[in-house]
Amino acid sequence: MKATYSHVLLWLLLSVVTTCGGRDTISVTQSVGEGESLVSSGGDFELGFFTLGSDGRKYIGIWFKKVQGRNVVWVANRERPLVNSFGDLQLTNTSLLVLVNSTGSVMWSTNSSRSVQSPIAQLLDSGNLVVRDENDNNPDNYLWQSFDYPCDSQLPGMKLGRNFVTGVDRYLTSWKSYDDPSPGSYTYRFNPQGYPQPILYRDSVEQYRDGPWNGFWFSGNSLLNPNPSELYQFVFNQRELYYVYELINFSLVTNRFLNTLGSLQRVEWNNRKQGWDTYLSKPTDSCDMYALCGSYGICNNVNFPRCQCVKGFVPKSPIDWNDGVCSDGCVLSTPFNCSINNGFIKYSNVKLPDTRSSWYNTTMTLEECKNKCLKKCSCVAYANLDVTDGGTGCLLWFDNLIDVRVLSGVGQDLYVRVSSSGSGGDGKIRIWVAVGSSLLLIVILSCVVIFIRWRKWRPNIVEKYFASRGGSGINKNKKEEKELPIYPFNVITRATNYFSLSNKVGEGGFGCVYKGVLNDGQEIAVKRLSKNSKQGLDEFKNEALFIAKLQHRNLVRLIGCCVKAEEQILIYEYMPNNSLDRVLFDKTSSGLLDWPKRFEIINGIARGLLYLHQDSRLRIVHRDLKASNVLLDKEMNPKISDFGMARSFTESEDEAKTKRVVGTYGYMPPEYTIDGLFSVKSDVYSFGVIVLEIVCGKKNRGFNHPDHHHSLLGHAWMHFKDGATLDIVDESILKMSYASEIQRSIQIGLLCVQQNPEDRPSMSQVSVMLSGDTELAIPTEPGFFVQRYMPQESHSGATQSSSNEVTVTLLSGR
Ligand SMILES: *[C@@H]1O[C@H](CO)[C@@H](O)[C@H](O)[C@H]1NC(C)=O
Ligand SMILES: *[C@@H]1O[C@H](CO)[C@@H](O)[C@H](O)[C@H]1NC(C)=O
Ligand SMILES: *[C@@H]1O[C@H](CO)[C@@H](O)[C@H](O)[C@H]1NC(C)=O
Ligand SMILES: *[C@@H]1O[C@H](CO)[C@@H](O)[C@H](O)[C@H]1NC(C)=O
Ligand SMILES: *[C@@H]1O[C@H](CO)[C@@H](O)[C@H](O)[C@H]1NC(C)=O
Ligand SMILES: *[C@@H]1O[C@H](CO)[C@@H](O)[C@H](O)[C@H]1NC(C)=O
Repeated sequence: MKATYSHVLLWLLLSVVTTCGGRDTISVTQSVGEGESLVSSGGDFELGFFTLGSDGRKYIGIWFKKVQGRNVVWVANRERPLVNSFGDLQLTNTSLLVLVNSTGSVMWSTNSSRSVQSPIAQLLDSGNLVVRDENDNNPDNYLWQSFDYPCDSQLPGMKLGRNFVTGVDRYLTSWKSYDDPSPGSYTYRFNPQGYPQPILYRDSVEQYRDGPWNGFWFSGNSLLNPNPSELYQFVFNQRELYYVYELINFSLVTNRFLNTLGSLQRVEWNNRKQGWDTYLSKPTDSCDMYALCGSYGICNNVNFPRCQCVKGFVPKSPIDWNDGVCSDGCVLSTPFNCSINNGFIKYSNVKLPDTRSSWYNTTMTLEECKNKCLKKCSCVAYANLDVTDGGTGCLLWFDNLIDVRVLSGVGQDLYVRVSSSGSGGDGKIRIWVAVGSSLLLIVILSCVVIFIRWRKWRPNIVEKYFASRGGSGINKNKKEEKELPIYPFNVITRATNYFSLSNKVGEGGFGCVYKGVLNDGQEIAVKRLSKNSKQGLDEFKNEALFIAKLQHRNLVRLIGCCVKAEEQILIYEYMPNNSLDRVLFDKTSSGLLDWPKRFEIINGIARGLLYLHQDSRLRIVHRDLKASNVLLDKEMNPKISDFGMARSFTESEDEAKTKRVVGTYGYMPPEYTIDGLFSVKSDVYSFGVIVLEIVCGKKNRGFNHPDHHHSLLGHAWMHFKDGATLDIVDESILKMSYASEIQRSIQIGLLCVQQNPEDRPSMSQVSVMLSGDTELAIPTEPGFFVQRYMPQESHSGATQSSSNEVTVTLLSGR
């Protein structure tokens, strides 16, 4: 973290160094020394020396002049900085630009092969540094230009790609780290095999593929609306292959760069907030990872599991596949036979497969394309090359389809070869499906009949119990209080081995939790409410009734209850992996949770909460959502538990006030802690805290940092503002392929913990945000920004403390 702050400082210093600017050219007898600079005629760019790192390495480079903070776009001597030495950039009479150190050694130089009568070096207003003849302004005659040697940034007007005549290949290379501009391991470059497409590599391994150009944009682009203030162009002919974008509105400051984690960012300077807005970052989600689903697999983030095989194919390693490891891909279910496999199935809205094994023709129609494919037995798919004009051109794939994903609403059509007649292997499958589904229907019908009859004669229900205790239930609708089995006390004591200590698995705010095994072998979790628990009969009823009515795969399932004398016992399904906090905040077990798993957990909690808030019949506010109330099942699926404090809302009610503030510090929003106001937005706040905890692997409560007094939320927000969001991420999960998904999650977390409840999104908006289909708003300052503002436990009237969480009941005086 320290590095980042010093880094920010450096950048600030850097923009102050500009002293005697004004000129934009040097000629042979002149040079740019330290403290001097060139400024482009429009004043947008500046060239000069800047310093990085604690050892004061000096570089010569070009930066945005009007922008504070991270603004360097090009570095000349990226690999050979000046250390303890002054530098001087000179133009020689042989038309070379050279950087020499104080003892005259050449640290960097251009290598134009021609020289001219009166050479000059000029910083153009596009940010391009060129060496040219003073009297010749034709770009084709430049002797040298920095746009031919990109670093990590592609500025507007800069061609990325190849010149087949001169052999120049212009591509982006990431910096090694924040303060080291030497080439890092990520590159983004055109691959000219088959139909050319840009690919992002880590060293030489593909990370992300942009897909072939479709006339509008690269096929893998998930941007719904291209930025209206830019023009995009892709050129591919005998002489050249490149992609370029131009600004329509020249007053905008924009850049496209490859960051140190291998994420390609499109950014635009926001003058009002004095910071960069990132409007596109690639890769965007897991499906963007190159070949995540292997050969003939299709990735779809909305599905579970994400990977599916193309029709006619089955997973090559079904066991791995079910575990979510799909890189082995799919194989044919029945051998391919060209005279049978002569039909096509259309996949819409997909990113076209890797075109390195493709053949193309720019003028063919779709019909010609199809026939061409049918003539070659190894042809497995076809598609239109260009979709701008109703579709033209032809792309054919041979022997393999790899890295296909669904892009909702913006993808293209892909036609994959399958057997056309019903007589092949598919026919057999269809028959089996027909037989299978009718059997299933019969089974379901019989179950329904049996269930209806069972309900009629089953009297042993909660309603009866509560009636006998004189309870009225939270909801007057008695019919809904049925269907919760009551277990005899002796069954429970036997199952938990007489509540033995060795069966104890946890301690919640209101009592102990034991693991038990019923006679039939079913594992259960038994929550025994302590006798002196503040959870009286009311809360008990509350919890039992709420949860009996709630059915969702992300809510823990109540199996039954048990009451005897003073004992109040709830019986849940058993969660072998304990609660999220135990796994997450434990150094040894947190390694079990890689990012995809954590992201699934975030999504699961969001789904559970959305159900509570909106989809269940009751509209429920949980009021005590926290990591220790999220349990994990065998597959690490999250389930929300502990409804002792939940409150049901009517449709018209939006906010309620309570005198008894109950909850857990660190997860309660300010308006609740201070004023006792709660609404669904209180749960959203708690959710946001959990998201940030999951990403950072640290607890919000008790978070401390040597450099500041911010809470985890404040810490995250400061880094977000500085554009260094990823610095807060748990190092064990940080991989470049996840970077944008992680970044997105942090932003969502920050949106959820905003000070003002109205600013926080609803859970349904959160779900949309998590799916990655929308642009995210910029969060404002979070509630409980500073750790010190948090009330201490000692303020509380009655405190029930458990092992490591503290649940507090504030008896406020109103
Ligand atoms: C200049 O660079 C040369 C070669 O890297 C090096 O040997 C020399 O020490 C440098 N001069 C200074 C003053 O650092
Ligand atoms: C360039 O300068 C060097 C020394 O500064 C001189 O020897 C040489 O003749 C010059 N070349 C031209 C082409 O002017
Ligand atoms: C100029 O230098 C670059 C590397 O900086 C190299 O790839 C290129 O081949 C050189 N060109 C000539 C003409 O020497
Ligand atoms: C260009 O961008 C600036 C800054 O965003 C904006 O104020 C201006 O209206 C834009 N001009 C046009 C013609 O779109
Ligand atoms: C392909 O299918 C045709 C028509 O059913 C059949 O005659 C032929 O033997 C098959 N070829 C192979 C290699 O299985
Ligand atoms: C592309 O297809 C058209 C129509 O079939 C044909 O006339 C043309 O020669 C083809 N071009 C190439 C490069 O194969």
